[in-house]
Amino acid sequence: MSTNEEIIGRSEINDLEAILAVSAADQHDSIRAVKDNADAIFTWDYEKGSRPALNKLYEKAKVSMWNGETDLPWDTVVDQEQVARDNMALGSFGDIDLSHTPFANWADKEWMNLGMEFQNWSLSQFMHGEQGALICTAKIVETVPWIDAKYYASTQVMDEARHVEVFAKYLDTKLNGHYPLNAHLGMLLDDIIEDSRWDMTYLGMQIMVEGLALAAFGFMHQMTTEPLLKKLLRYVMSDEARHVAFGVLSLKEYYADLSSAELMERQEFAFEAAVRMRDRFMQQEVWERMGLKPKEVLPLLIDNPNRLLFQQMLFTKIVPNCKKLGLLDANDKWLRHKFEDLGVIQFEDLSDTSDEYEAFALGDQELAASGASLAP
Ligand SMILES: [Fe+2]
Ligand SMILES: [Fe+2]
Repeated sequence: MSTNEEIIGRSEINDLEAILAVSAADQHDSIRAVKDNADAIFTWDYEKGSRPALNKLYEKAKVSMWNGETDLPWDTVVDQEQVARDNMALGSFGDIDLSHTPFANWADKEWMNLGMEFQNWSLSQFMHGEQGALICTAKIVETVPWIDAKYYASTQVMDEARHVEVFAKYLDTKLNGHYPLNAHLGMLLDDIIEDSRWDMTYLGMQIMVEGLALAAFGFMHQMTTEPLLKKLLRYVMSDEARHVAFGVLSLKEYYADLSSAELMERQEFAFEAAVRMRDRFMQQEVWERMGLKPKEVLPLLIDNPNRLLFQQMLFTKIVPNCKKLGLLDANDKWLRHKFEDLGVIQFEDLSDTSDEYEAFALGDQELAASGASLAP
């Protein structure tokens, strides 16, 4: 088994210097090329429904398509200052005395700007992550050997296109700034795409990135009072819950037959992904844009209980799903111990997402309003 150094490039998970040393380098390029090393797989077994759970998801996806152009109230006037005030709970420093910190001279205007930048940053990362999902799911169509999974993945490609589209439109028309892809998220997306094994795409994207996205969208959906964003997130989440279920259902079958050594590689990958996603929430680009040094700001934030709670909450879907896949306790509970180090093991017994997608589904009325055909 590998060391932290080998898996995440540093021995201490919380080594702030090392985390901040990673920063976006190619943000001025208009494209990013990543080598995809996988074979495209044809199958001659066309029997539809031989994996009933995936077939059910596929049929569900076909009748759940909404239209981002026509179903969301784009004429809503978004008050960014109000959105910034909603965000203050996230950026809150609680009771910390700021008098000898870089914030000592901040007035309302700076705090308001910070709130707006948080929103710009979050929505930008959501948008980039959605493009990662679009690319990864197109890759799954090529690489997965099962026909029911190819069918389902093709519907997810369409879902992800809509997600990129609506986040991009929201950023362009309602907010006041973009951020480039966060470097930690970028490293993770590269690793997922470069891996030649088809199940690693699922593990990295459907289980880890989308599991985190589902939790993050849910949190923002609950917090925001901005009606357009609330509805946008509601629609996106109804799809995301299905996507995570697709990952859990597919990998459950595949992982049942893997050796301990093969499972170890998956455990290490899940750990790497968890650390990368945790690191991205340091939001280092926001501090830089506000004219601050992340190295001076982050130590003030790292132990803030509000922020810690938010950070842990992001793992509420990932941990139970890893447990369901048998990844927590294989190889002498290796991943369990890593999740203990990250402070997120307490979520292991929350419901997993393999059937939770029914609860997230849009109601008949919402679908009727969107013009999508209704299930028989
Ligand atoms: Fe998505
Ligand atoms: Fe998704």
